[in-house]
Amino acid sequence: MNKPEPMLNLFDFEKSMTSSLEASAIDYYQSGALDEHTLKDNISAFQRIQFLPRVLKDVSHVNTNTSFAGQQLSTPILFSPTAFLGMAHEDGELAVARAAQNAKTIMICSTLSNYPIEEITASTQASVWFQLYAYKDRQATLNLIQRAKHAGCKALVITVDAPFLGRREQDVKNQFQLPSHLNIANLFSKDHISLPNKGGHSGLAHYFENLIDKSLTWRDIDWLKREADMPVYLKGILHPKDAQLAVEHGVDGIIVSNHGGRQLDGSISSIDALPAISRAVNKQIPIMLDGGIRRGSDILKALALGAETVGIGRPVIWGLNHSGQQGVETIVNILTAELSLAMALAGCQDIQSISDDILV
Ligand SMILES: Cc1cc2nc3c(=O)[nH]c(=O)nc-3n(C[C@H](O)[C@H](O)[C@H](O)COP(=O)(O)O)c2cc1C
Repeated sequence: MNKPEPMLNLFDFEKSMTSSLEASAIDYYQSGALDEHTLKDNISAFQRIQFLPRVLKDVSHVNTNTSFAGQQLSTPILFSPTAFLGMAHEDGELAVARAAQNAKTIMICSTLSNYPIEEITASTQASVWFQLYAYKDRQATLNLIQRAKHAGCKALVITVDAPFLGRREQDVKNQFQLPSHLNIANLFSKDHISLPNKGGHSGLAHYFENLIDKSLTWRDIDWLKREADMPVYLKGILHPKDAQLAVEHGVDGIIVSNHGGRQLDGSISSIDALPAISRAVNKQIPIMLDGGIRRGSDILKALALGAETVGIGRPVIWGLNHSGQQGVETIVNILTAELSLAMALAGCQDIQSISDDILV
């Protein structure tokens, strides 16, 4: 009898997805915009950064605990918001929320979840933050914020890099649609995403074009901040001037992100954008980074360059698809163990002692 392959790292989980999911769902989860230069560079940019490790630092006890947004976490890894987790596993967002509890971290739930936000927060004691896409219909946007607040979400994450959906050619070829048994549970009827494909669009791109507010400016961020009455983070910042504006507009934190290479192809990788942003923000507000985190050493590099935490998007989906809540927990455990070992080998006992001194 063949022994099952051991799941050693995130790439083993990524590979396992091909045997269990429909091609159009895999394409939706995996793909990036256009030629996928940014998608690939999110990974290769980490490989270009080298460590300059310190020695003789007593690393007999390495501690990955950290505090972020006033909360104690066992690891600096958050779950970035990803849409439609119901295609990866029947427990979808509920499994991810429960995994966040066991991993002692934070789940950022997408506007486009397949379970309603109330069920997600009720299923876990973890902090759940709500990721918001601002709709043209301002009342619909406010209703979403109210629902998130009543459901107990601890912060609002406004995604600012997606006035239109980047063109993901795989989704266009597949005319990607949400399977008929799944809903966009926080919003209107599923008819909105089952719109007939027009002009070679994916169903999702068409949905965005119709409903998402493309006119959003910093004035609207001020308005959303007033309405939210909870901490507000902006997700999708790459330019240091925008980071500076985020500070000036009093947001509570930013997420340096290019949406996993799914929006403007040719954009800078998140990790390459981080140093200038870190200088511009100058520790006035916390910075999280997502995009291309596949190894614990990537996390160490991001923290050394000024991020307080990182987010993982696709790796959560791979774990979820492999074995539900357990699979997501295993992903966090693998990354945290890799981070801990990398910290020890670079001479860092704890998260607070990480600085760019350990990088070339
Ligand atoms: C399948 C998929 C769906 C996503 N859905 C959302 C979303 O609904 N809202 C959002 O702000 N970002 C979304 N993102 C972007 C992620 O939050 C995150 O920025 C990105 O996945 C990080 O890169 P990584 O996948 O390399 O970890 C999505 C990404 C993927 C791969």
